[in-house]
Amino acid sequence: MNILILYYSGVGNTKMVATKIFDLLHGSHEATLVSIEKLSTDIAIDNYDSLVIGFPTIHAAPAQPILTFIKQIKRLEKSIPAFLFTTCGLYSANTLRIFGKQCEKKNIITILSKSYRCAATDGVLIAPTMNIWFCHEKRLDKKVEHDVSAFIRHCNDPIIANIPRFKIYSILNYPNKFFGQRFSPPIYIHKKNCVSCGKCVVNCPVQCICRDDIGYPLFNNEKCIHCYRCIHHCPKKALSLSKKCPPSKTLYY
Ligand SMILES: Cc1cc2nc3c(=O)[nH]c(=O)nc-3n(C[C@H](O)[C@H](O)[C@H](O)COP(=O)(O)O)c2cc1C
Repeated sequence: MNILILYYSGVGNTKMVATKIFDLLHGSHEATLVSIEKLSTDIAIDNYDSLVIGFPTIHAAPAQPILTFIKQIKRLEKSIPAFLFTTCGLYSANTLRIFGKQCEKKNIITILSKSYRCAATDGVLIAPTMNIWFCHEKRLDKKVEHDVSAFIRHCNDPIIANIPRFKIYSILNYPNKFFGQRFSPPIYIHKKNCVSCGKCVVNCPVQCICRDDIGYPLFNNEKCIHCYRCIHHCPKKALSLSKKCPPSKTLYY
């Protein structure tokens, strides 16, 4: 089978899971792993037998870049079965349902969808330091392996949509969704730590960071999608959500 694994990853968790899936499929199938940020225009989704699409849950919804991506692609001529997965810090609510419905409009039919709990890229920065924010769920590898084999088995069946039902408990998450989507904190730079290495600039998925005359980053807050990749990838912890102090811990440094 010719399988396309597409993903968007803010900080790196989704990329890590997508790479695991690629490693499991590669060899027994013709698998291609691509980030939507690097997707070349000549990639024709129609040419694949099945799709795996991964993205993080951001404020109880699919991350904005993957939504923009799915909305702008053309409707496929034939139905393609898809395995959707999301990585979340705590609870993915209706994220997979929202995305599954968008996919259906494009003839991409969700036959399996899974949520994987990973390190919380927001919790690490916002909440009090606790181990739970830093670790992935137990037996993540086994779970991914199990889901990938289930997907491969289902690919041989007639394509029947299996979009997750509306989760009633997600209503409890609405305040987080409402405030999170409307009020995102700006990112501050702590110049005493910054060495002008430019890693934040190259890592930004929406190119919203440029440099001033000295080389310090300048943020375009209008364009920023608050993925916090720049903060987690700063080797000197020079970026934070707090005006007063740099972060005590990030996911990579
Ligand atoms: C701005 C922001 C909002 C988030 N909102 C949620 C959320 O509503 N629910 C949740 O479980 N995790 C949430 N997370 C955590 C991420 O979904 C989780 O850490 C995910 O694995 C990040 O994937 P990535 O490293 O590929 O970006 C949020 C993270 C960020 C940065």
